[in-house]
This record gives sequence, structure tokens and C-alpha cells, in this order.
Amino acid sequence: MKRPIKAAAAAFVREEITRRLLPASVASDLNRNDRAGALHRAWGYVYTNQIRGAYYELGVYRGDGFRASFKARTLFDAWQRGQLASPETWRREVAAGYADYAHPFYAFDTFAGMPANEEGNPCFAEGNFGCSLPEFRRLNEAAGLKESGRVRYFAGTFDETLKREPASLAGLEPAAIANVDCDLYGSTLDALRILAPKLRQGTVVLMDDWNAFSASPRAGERQALAEFSAEHAGLSFEPWFPYEFVGQAFLVHKKD
Ligand SMILES: C[S@@+](CC[C@H](N)C(=O)[O-])C[C@H]1O[C@@H](n2cnc3c(N)ncnc32)[C@H](O)[C@@H]1O
Repeated sequence: MKRPIKAAAAAFVREEITRRLLPASVASDLNRNDRAGALHRAWGYVYTNQIRGAYYELGVYRGDGFRASFKARTLFDAWQRGQLASPETWRREVAAGYADYAHPFYAFDTFAGMPANEEGNPCFAEGNFGCSLPEFRRLNEAAGLKESGRVRYFAGTFDETLKREPASLAGLEPAAIANVDCDLYGSTLDALRILAPKLRQGTVVLMDDWNAFSASPRAGERQALAEFSAEHAGLSFEPWFPYEFVGQAFLVHKKD
């Protein structure tokens, strides 16, 4: 069976041979324009502004993005610990006000692949990108990321989760970074409905498939964000930077 284009592209980028072919200056540049670079930039922004809030990823598949985000946060956490030991008083004082904060990590997925849909993109057909919850958990644990009160997994379609777990969702922290990576129009609209009460002034929203469906405003994430914005006059989404093949980062503005 042919692998979906997106999964094949991701695997290609991950492969050791590809990494070896990259000039060292590119491979080690954390500000590069791929997904890991986007997460690095998002976490750098969160640490620079000392934002308290969670990392939400809606559409996690095998957790590559989830763990890349955890890794990016770990790097900034280590940088901040260095600041605590700075000879400059102001650096120590600024870092001390934020160093004890551990950002929660929340993952949402069917854990059974793409839901049934009629959006007509063969890459996003029902069952593609399937990874079970036990396998997702195992991969995370192997990378040092353990499920806990601050690392939580929500299994089911987003609309089911919204209906089934309103109390658990209400207890989740606001979003510092929301990584929306569920490809489809319907799924993105449901993902945004989970996020709606969690968005704050300055939340980073990564729309990983912004230019899928040939960037049509009448399909995919573009259509979903346009409809969501029309329903939420108090929120606006400022384009920040494009990344990788079809991704786009936004910053949320909130009229309070
Ligand atoms: C492209 S994959 C995500 C890739 C992942 N972010 C990564 O870094 O590898 C899309 C994921 O969205 C999930 N998904 C799509 N629509 C969904 C929905 N309505 N509810 C829950 N999960 C959904 C699929 O199960 C799939 O795992």
C-alpha cells in the first residue's frame, strides 16, 4: 500500500541518511524552517514572554511532533536554569519568577487514525495515520515523557471528547501553544472548539496543514479558521511565520 505523502515526507526528513547529507550548519540550526524549527521558535517566544500555559497538540499520530515540542521546551528550561546562575542580578531575578513553572502537555487524537470523512483528499482518508494509545504512550515513555496530571492524553474524535469530557476540559490550563495538526476542515473546526476557551492574548497557534488542499480558502484548515473566526468576534489570528511545506504559525489577539 502507498504511504500517505505527508507520512512519507516526514519519514524522509527523519532518515539518518538525509540528516547526514545536510550541511552541519543547517542540521544544528534550531531556527530552521521545518517543524522542529517552528516549535523551537514558538517555545523561544513563550520563554521570552514568560507565558504560563499548556502545549496542546490536536492530531498527534505517533507523537513525533509532541516529543519534538517536549524536547524544545526541555532546551529552553535548561537555558533558564543557566540564567539562575548568572552573575547578573537582573537575569537571576527574571528567571526566578518563571523557573518553577512546568508547562502541561495535552495530546488529543482518535488514536485510531483519521475519522470517516468526505473531504476527498486520499492522504487523509479514514484510518490513515493510525497509532494506538498504548503505542503512543510507549514511544513517549521511551523519550522520557510520562503520562501524569500535567501530561494528559484524550482519546476519541475531538467532537466526542468535547461532549464526553466537559469537566476535564474545563480543568485544563490555557494554551501557550496550540499545534493543530488534524488536516481536515471538520476536524480542525472541532479542534478549534476545544481550544476556544483556552486561547489567550499571545497564544501561538500552529496550523500544520494551512496550505494543504492547494491552499484553497474553501477547504481544510483555512476554511475552518475562517468559520471559527466568524463565530468568535473577540479573537483574531495574526499570521506569524510559514514553516515546513504547508504550515503557518499565528499569534492570537484577544479583545477582552
Ligand atoms: C498528520 S497526523 C498528525 C501528525 C502529528 N502531529 C505528528 O507530529 O506526527 C493527523 C492526526 O490527526 C488525527 N485526527 C484527525 N481528525 C481527528 C479528529 N476529528 N479527532 C481526533 N483525531 C483526529 C488522526 O488520527 C491523526 O493521528
